[in-house]
Amino acid sequence: MSDKKKLRSTEWFGLSGKMGFTHRSWMRNQGHPDHMFRDKPVIGICNTWSDLTPCNAHLRDFAEIVKRGVYEAGGFPLEFPVTSLGEILMKPSTMLFRNLASMDTEETIRANPLDGIVLMTGCDKTTPSVIMGAASVDLPTIVVPGGPMLNGKWKGTDVGSGTLTWQLADRLKEGTITEEEVIEAESCMSRSAGHCMTMGTASSMASTVEALGLTLPGFSSIPAVDSRKKVMAHLSGNRIVEMVKEDLKLSQILTREAFENAIMVNSAIGGSTNVIIHLLAIANRLGVELSLDDFDTLGSHMPLLVNLMPAGKYLMEDFYYAGGLPVVLKELNAHLHNEAITVNGKSIEENSKDAECYNREVIAHFDQPFQKDAGIAVLKGNLCEDGGVIKPSAATPELMKHKGKAVVFETIEDYHARVDDPDLDIDETSVMVLKGVGPVGYPGMPEVGNMVLPEKLLKKGVKDLVRISDGRMSGTAYGTVVLHVAPESTIGGTLALVKNGDLIELDVEKRSLTLHVPEEELEKRRSEWTPPKPLAERGYAHLYINHVEQADKGCDFDFLKGSSGSEVQRDLH
Ligand code: FES
Repeated sequence: MSDKKKLRSTEWFGLSGKMGFTHRSWMRNQGHPDHMFRDKPVIGICNTWSDLTPCNAHLRDFAEIVKRGVYEAGGFPLEFPVTSLGEILMKPSTMLFRNLASMDTEETIRANPLDGIVLMTGCDKTTPSVIMGAASVDLPTIVVPGGPMLNGKWKGTDVGSGTLTWQLADRLKEGTITEEEVIEAESCMSRSAGHCMTMGTASSMASTVEALGLTLPGFSSIPAVDSRKKVMAHLSGNRIVEMVKEDLKLSQILTREAFENAIMVNSAIGGSTNVIIHLLAIANRLGVELSLDDFDTLGSHMPLLVNLMPAGKYLMEDFYYAGGLPVVLKELNAHLHNEAITVNGKSIEENSKDAECYNREVIAHFDQPFQKDAGIAVLKGNLCEDGGVIKPSAATPELMKHKGKAVVFETIEDYHARVDDPDLDIDETSVMVLKGVGPVGYPGMPEVGNMVLPEKLLKKGVKDLVRISDGRMSGTAYGTVVLHVAPESTIGGTLALVKNGDLIELDVEKRSLTLHVPEEELEKRRSEWTPPKPLAERGYAHLYINHVEQADKGCDFDFLKGSSGSEVQRDLH
């Protein structure tokens, strides 16, 4: 760097006197020579590694590869941990802690002598949480996605993370599989480092982050254990140093156009409904106008181009071998904002124009899609005044227009207690309704919206029912499931007023979700309704309940919208 002042880190390491001595001296205990503190971009490697987050457990080693790239390019890498959100172990829901992890990331970046940031991501919430945090500081930033596991292999067939779990849950209830077979399937499904290898939330987020322009091209789909993943991690270390020199900030990449690209791509890949909530939250941090309706307007008529579970047949490893996301971007180029800039300084079009597809069973031509109009649809109606969402590519076509009687579960505990009761008044025409699983109500909006069907219906061969809730659904799940109903039941949304036997009508083509109960009756129920007692009266959950916004706004805290920039308000001493 010719002008030291351009480097934010010189405000720490470039000082003379007591403060310069202090900032450098304690760092020297790690054995850094003097020249590392002189005129070098300091690159923060924000690591979501944790043994408790199996999908990110390999990222500790990966950070070393990124560091090699940083050193090679003339930077000074300093790795730091942030709250890691492991989807599989954390209770009651990682979503409860996404905003906490974003605050951890934001404050750690701002408070330290960092010029550029590498975000090491993987499991579902680890991606949006660190991007949200970094966006509120807005330094040059690049994402290193940890990559999917290798294909699951069980009894001679490919099995997908999560998707197999739902299938096994149904088969156990049907009585067509034994507990011993299920235990055997555990390690057959998860047989390498990496995150879920279906097009679940982790793969969807990694793909949309590449579409946003935040990764090197083609990075997101490479399996975690493929040596080419390491090459990309090394090159990302090289590139972030250049980005600091170019002062290419996150906000220059994450424009409205980039978000529009990401919405279209998420539809074309059959991506997760969770992406909606995360993109809304990230956009809000940057002051980019984005609404729930944009997902329908821009995405719902997109064709399904990727044949991956849960909507299709293949897995992420196959997607990578078929050419990966650059092929999808090339197929969509008549619709995307091709000039949108990415972390390598090139446009999305420049990065994808030479992409070749090696397997059309996995990635289709735009004109010959696996399904038309496959993107997420946004529903409105008196049952979801501020919106609800459904993923048509994962639903049963015959149920997309359906009218049936409500079978209501007041809480998730109520659902578990009664769903398999042989006397439960439910049949294949019923509509299952679950309350109390929204952001405030649970709290933390868990992935329970795709309720497993009652045993007695599964044994009759029923495979799907219309299901409605204010919760979320795992990106690996499937079914005719209406999610993210807003306002949620716990804060008095109409969902709170639904009773057993009420007629509910879903019409996806008309984008409507209607509770057929006269307005006078609804008013009566509303006047008699009392909100449930909050489940947390202290600590972080208390903060969450009091400040989380509804799903149609991205479930961020009301006080976290926007950016505070990279300036530190007061000095250390
Ligand atoms: Fe981590 Fe699926 S559980 S990505």
